[in-house]
Amino acid sequence: MRIILVGYGVVGQSLTRLFISRKAELAKNYGFRPRVVAVADRGGVAVNPKGLDLERILQVKAEKHTVAADTVYGHPNMRVLDVIESVEAEALVEASPTNVKDGEPALSHIKSAFKAGKHVVTSNKGPLALALPVLTELAEHNKVYFRFSGSVGAGTPILEFAKKCLYGERIVSIRGVLNGTTNYILTEMAEKHVAFNEALEKAKKLGYAEADPSMDIDGIDTACKIVILANWAMGKKVTLKDVQIKGIRNVTIKDIEDAAKNNCLVKLVGSANGKLEVKPENVPKESPLAVSGTLNAVTFTSEFAGEQTIIGRGAGGVETASAILRDLLDIKQKLAAKVWLEI
Ligand code: HSE
Repeated sequence: MRIILVGYGVVGQSLTRLFISRKAELAKNYGFRPRVVAVADRGGVAVNPKGLDLERILQVKAEKHTVAADTVYGHPNMRVLDVIESVEAEALVEASPTNVKDGEPALSHIKSAFKAGKHVVTSNKGPLALALPVLTELAEHNKVYFRFSGSVGAGTPILEFAKKCLYGERIVSIRGVLNGTTNYILTEMAEKHVAFNEALEKAKKLGYAEADPSMDIDGIDTACKIVILANWAMGKKVTLKDVQIKGIRNVTIKDIEDAAKNNCLVKLVGSANGKLEVKPENVPKESPLAVSGTLNAVTFTSEFAGEQTIIGRGAGGVETASAILRDLLDIKQKLAAKVWLEI
């Protein structure tokens, strides 16, 4: 499969490392031979229609900070949209940083890939939170697959759990701790009595926080994920503007201590029930949502099967890259079987 990779930060680089380290296994077990024909970052692009040498691209990135500095394949001035439109490939992987103001440039990247007949895998929550209903229709119209497993729960297969394990069920509500950074901060504050800012700095250093950490702290990241889940698992046609959002900026050590007196933990909870909401809540310590550190936990309530909770690490480069790999393998299998399934 020929792949155009846009966004070469921690997620994009982790994905290429996975391709390198798992090369033989991916070919043998899944018949999957990824050939990355273009990589784009903020400095430009590197293109080789025959497939880039990924070790070399990682090295160029580490030494020169942009793949466009590659002396043979680098193009500092080439537009990413031109690459997506003109370089032959089966799939676009969009792993650029999330922008929830207008979803750009990822939104245009995804749309032009669809129009060019390319399947898309993304971990970028901006276009999904702002335009998921439209994007889903556009993908169907162009008969291409659109996958975004890594956008919710990083490597934890939350979206697959809802769609595949609860296949045929009607999910009536979703409640979840969906942001690793805020959960890490709240856990540090509760367990180690660390101040808010100190905990945030640690989360940034560990690579959990968004490029703009207010996305995490002010609940926007959680809101994006609840929008994605509501569209994906409940068939709602909603976007970010439909969510009432309150973050954790004003949560104090006293709030956390008061919660503890009532055998509760303060968690930033996203929910989709009659309405979509994000706010800090006192969660009983015995609740499955009372997870610590960067863990995410999501409880799905469905009509007949009742409540199930899936728990796992919800942030991190290699975790998110593993979800992208899963999505690519899923598309590969569908193409091999020549089946067309909705979404
Ligand atoms: N900043 C996000 C989080 C990354 O902390 O959960 C994963 O989406």
